[in-house]
Amino acid sequence: MSNAPESRSAGGIVQIGVAGLGTAGRAFLPAIEAHAGFRLVAVAEPTAEARNDIVAQNGVPGYATLQEMLAHPGLDAVYVGTPTDLHPAHVAEAFAAKKHVLVEKPMAVRLDQAQAMIDGAARAGVVLLVGHSHSYDLPIKRMREIIADGMLGRVRMVNTWNFTDWIYRPRRPDELDWEQGGGVTYRQGSHQFDIIRLLGGGMVRSVKARTFDWDPARRAIGAHTVYLDFEDGAVATAVYSGYGGFASAELCFDVTEWGFLEPPANRKPVRRPGAGSTPADELQAKRARSKNAIPASAPNQPFFGLTLVSCERGDIRQSPQGLYVYGEQGRSEIELPRDRSPRDLVMAEFFDAISGRAPALHDGRWGLANLEVCTAAIESSASGREIFLKHQVPVPA
Ligand SMILES: NC(=O)c1ccc[n+]([C@@H]2O[C@H](COP(=O)([O-])OP(=O)(O)OC[C@H]3O[C@@H](n4cnc5c(N)ncnc54)[C@H](O)[C@@H]3O)[C@@H](O)[C@H]2O)c1
Repeated sequence: MSNAPESRSAGGIVQIGVAGLGTAGRAFLPAIEAHAGFRLVAVAEPTAEARNDIVAQNGVPGYATLQEMLAHPGLDAVYVGTPTDLHPAHVAEAFAAKKHVLVEKPMAVRLDQAQAMIDGAARAGVVLLVGHSHSYDLPIKRMREIIADGMLGRVRMVNTWNFTDWIYRPRRPDELDWEQGGGVTYRQGSHQFDIIRLLGGGMVRSVKARTFDWDPARRAIGAHTVYLDFEDGAVATAVYSGYGGFASAELCFDVTEWGFLEPPANRKPVRRPGAGSTPADELQAKRARSKNAIPASAPNQPFFGLTLVSCERGDIRQSPQGLYVYGEQGRSEIELPRDRSPRDLVMAEFFDAISGRAPALHDGRWGLANLEVCTAAIESSASGREIFLKHQVPVPA
């Protein structure tokens, strides 16, 4: 297969369709609109209300399923924002139709499914990109550049903490079941492990972890502590709790996941689903929340909790407007532009890969390596053993 997949549209515009108009799918529409190299030409969503809503707003045809949308004339690429356990089948359908694919994280539930997606992309001669994940965020990308520059020496430790109310937000039942890619280790760990691997160089040797499911009224993996050993001797820890007590925004200048100021006094009390609430109630609440769960722009950089990188000659963390670098001369701040959202950066990487300008970093093999950490953490917690990894890839030079 040639490295530069062929772009099929006139003038290099990539005609893209969005499958799944829930929380994740809706969040990508502004970024697709904003990128001059993409044109939204169709959407697919079985829920008529959501589909009609987006069709009315964007003036593009709406299909009930991805399968139908794949027959839309001139379609080059598809964004797959459907439930995680449906990703393998949906991505295989897109590859059968020779479409480039941007699939949400986690890319699949099982490692063999992810490997099949990688093989499918190679056979079809198309791009497979996994995103959005918070490792695309500009502060994390800039941290990686400082590390690659070498001025602070080698990374020795990466520690990341995130405390949210993830478990008590309205959820479909599969989102709480780790065997369907649910729970915080798959859904939020994916972001943490992607960040850790990008900053640590990619090659995780082993994982030792404990996952927790401590609310009998809300069965799910709701918290974890994960220890990662890298091949080069660096280590990392990822701590996550979705049980809605402490909020890690308090460690991040009161800035939230998507870049908004939320001082503790303004934090809404965490609403646990009532005893009588049914899956149908939660689905309705989730659909209502999905309309504006993820904003298109924000006054601050996104903070996926507190991430602190320790190198031989200094440390790096996020600051309200960028990065704090703690070097031999003390603390200095690097301000970062706020003109591009995290999803704008995903679309830029996708376009560069499709047009052959630059190979993707967050490709299928990178996604598989992140997924391997998710499954290893769950296996380690169940067995009590350290799990050694086989599918790791380095950060490209
Ligand atoms: N990167 C992020 O920050 C982020 C945030 C949220 C969710 N996600 C990921 O996005 C995916 C979806 O999660 P969500 O929270 O948006 O769920 P959601 O329920 O809000 O959205 C999923 C949508 O897919 C639709 N769908 C189901 N079957 C379909 C089909 N055959 N064709 C087209 N559409 C179909 C559903 O009707 C629903 O509207 C998951 O993999 C999740 O891990 C990523």
